[in-house]
Amino acid sequence: MPRCHRSLSQPHDPDLSRMLKVYIVTGIAFMLLPGTFVGVLNLLKISSAHTSGAADAGWIQAHGHAQIFGWLGTFILGIGYYAIPRLRLSRFSFTAAWTTYFLWAAGVLIRWAVGTWPYRWEILFPLAGILELAAVAIFAGTVYLSRPRARDDKWRESVVLITAAGWMMVAAVAVNAVESFRVTAPVFPTAFNQSYLALITWGFVVPFIWGFLSRWTPPLLGLRKTHQLLVRPALGLLLIGVALAFVSALASAVVLLVATIAFGLAIRYFEPPEKEPKLSGVHPLTPSFIRLGYLWSIVAAAIAIVAALHPIPNGYAGASRHALTVGFFAATVFTIGPRVLPAFFNVRQLWSTRLMAVSLILLHIGCVIRVTSQILAYENIAPIAWRALPLSAGFEMAAVTMFAVNLLMTLTTGSPLEAYLAAAREAGSF
Ligand code: HEM
Repeated sequence: MPRCHRSLSQPHDPDLSRMLKVYIVTGIAFMLLPGTFVGVLNLLKISSAHTSGAADAGWIQAHGHAQIFGWLGTFILGIGYYAIPRLRLSRFSFTAAWTTYFLWAAGVLIRWAVGTWPYRWEILFPLAGILELAAVAIFAGTVYLSRPRARDDKWRESVVLITAAGWMMVAAVAVNAVESFRVTAPVFPTAFNQSYLALITWGFVVPFIWGFLSRWTPPLLGLRKTHQLLVRPALGLLLIGVALAFVSALASAVVLLVATIAFGLAIRYFEPPEKEPKLSGVHPLTPSFIRLGYLWSIVAAAIAIVAALHPIPNGYAGASRHALTVGFFAATVFTIGPRVLPAFFNVRQLWSTRLMAVSLILLHIGCVIRVTSQILAYENIAPIAWRALPLSAGFEMAAVTMFAVNLLMTLTTGSPLEAYLAAAREAGSF
């Protein structure tokens, strides 16, 4: 059978695992260097000059693009090609997954490079937007436009959320591409950028994370049955909140807060669990990490309301953004990734659950310092907080590096799941 027509949807297909590994390693590379390292450099410039204007807008946007598109976007595309076809497709094209990969990685890399060093930006900036759009269009066409396979009720609400998230990703990447043709310098104008950031964070990353959370966390935490009837209204409110970001920052933030609380109530994160959590392969503190991460998304929406009421200076807006991106996105990926990725990579388990816990604790401490000191320093409430900002960068950088080391070691040293199962069967425990 020719390779491009090969079905990749069987469990533990080695080609599929290999493809996912390439996506994940690329995402980690974007997260570490163009993402976190540049973020830390920006923060050091800002904190030593005591003004948020000290860092170049091109570098700030390059950092944000590397984190949202380069890290999270690459993870989402890889996991999407790996996991979604099992739900929805009987066959899908191997070529599509690799074409998406090369177009996406090239687009994100060019965009990041032009943001930091504006060489031939008139051509390269729009080119990056087009490459990214082409990559996502192929992904959407392959994964979403095929007929659903057998209906699985356990996945029903997750599929709705992930499908909505996929279309929001296409919309966000299209808006990015169109704007990259209209700019007069290799940066997005400030006013547009604020609404655009709501689109790429709340609009496409949040629904993807909700989709994966709704599938994987109820059994992981032993939660009571999800209130299915609340999930779609929460999603509807989320999308309305994102649309409102282009009209009124205040109305948008209020609706996003209601949506976030509604989704938390739907999944029943803050009710006592019904069953024992299924924590094999992850750290016992995982349920607390999940809840803490979710709490950060509520805090982010609440701070966004204050930011809308006090838009200048931009301490509240930056604090809200990092409560969402570090507190919710990064912390959730650092918690769910170690649970699902080892099985997807076809290895026995995470390299170190202890390293997982340490990286999450450091990440949350860094996020608390970052969010509070960004408000206190940027808003001129307590200038001593400028000194705490580099500390937050140190904590977050250490956390991000530990997560990367843990995943890379899991990938390279983990023993195959089959070998583990065979050994366990031989030992008579199955
Ligand atoms: C060590 C960790 C990090 C550091 C030191 C850092 C630093 C910064 C700094 C200094 C800014 C400039 C605006 C501001 O003052 O708030 C910024 C903006 C931003 N960051 Fe981070 N960041 C980190 C992690 C992350 C992560 C994990 C994400 C996403 C997953 C992220 C996404 C963003 C976004 C979207 C922006 C806005 C970019 C724009 O204005 O276009 N950051 N970050």
